Amino acid sequence: MGDPYCWGVFREEAHSPGRESDDAEILRLAAKSLEARGFQVELRDPDELARASGHARPRAIFLMCERLPVLRELASWERDGIVAVNRPSAVLDTYRERMIARFARASVPFIESRSVATSGEAATAPVPVWVKRGDVHNTQDGDVIFAEGQAAIARALEGMAGRGIPRAVIQPHVDGDLVKFYGIGRPDAPADAPPWFRWFYHKGQRLAGHRFDEAALARLVCRAAEALGLEIYGGDCIVTPGGLVLIDLNAWPSFALFRDEAGPTIGAYLAARFRESAP
Ligand SMILES: Nc1ncnc2c1ncn2[C@@H]1O[C@H](COP(=O)(O)OP(=O)(O)OP(=O)(O)O)[C@@H](O)[C@H]1O
Ligand SMILES: [Mg+2]
Repeated sequence: MGDPYCWGVFREEAHSPGRESDDAEILRLAAKSLEARGFQVELRDPDELARASGHARPRAIFLMCERLPVLRELASWERDGIVAVNRPSAVLDTYRERMIARFARASVPFIESRSVATSGEAATAPVPVWVKRGDVHNTQDGDVIFAEGQAAIARALEGMAGRGIPRAVIQPHVDGDLVKFYGIGRPDAPADAPPWFRWFYHKGQRLAGHRFDEAALARLVCRAAEALGLEIYGGDCIVTPGGLVLIDLNAWPSFALFRDEAGPTIGAYLAARFRESAP
């Protein structure tokens, strides 16, 4: 790349409830690692992007931001030839209802999910269930709610409607061991940046200890990430006696437990990706 000048974009604070510093830290570590590889890196808040005029734009960008206007702006930068990881379209596809539609189209096994309007239809479902806002992931209390009865479902939907959230997704509660995972890369990644995958049991649960095939988890997650076009991702899966149930996939998580390892791995991946895409 002639001018290895790139930007890292922080997540909007409202999208990092309780993990603002963890989210910022992994972006800084990735930036440091990119710098060590000869890139010039600047970190920006998402609201600074709209103000960047043409000549001040970087050649490549890596991003944790998730809001629609910024993603739209970055998609237009991509059309101008600026490389972006994750791609804005992939981040947009993690919006819950879009994600479910993508998985269905790509035949990626995912937890049974029903989309509903938050007002105007009385939604009932065999309980217990989880009621989740249909667009962005958890940003505040009331975005992801466990409901044990029909009244609780109605209350959850009403609360969302009251906050101007028009659609929700209802999923059955799945019993089992909750596994969190992190991934970096893609199946056709550059040879010097092979795919990286780690999982761990979410803290604070009483484990049933159901056995599972770790390679099958990696394969499932990799397929899911590919269906959305995500290159840096994380998510949640439940291990049940009957197998693995994927319940969520998020763009560029905090990588908190693996930060020291993930930072340089992301840096190496971005460096390879940006060089590969150099004009
Ligand atoms: N269907 C389900 N069965 C069992 N537990 C669930 C289910 N859906 C969600 N959960 C629990 O709620 C948590 C948050 O759900 P989910 O990952 O879908 O939302 P999120 O918006 O990405 O929130 P977070 O940022 O906390 O991961 C999960 O980690 C899990 O503990
Ligand atoms: Mg999640």
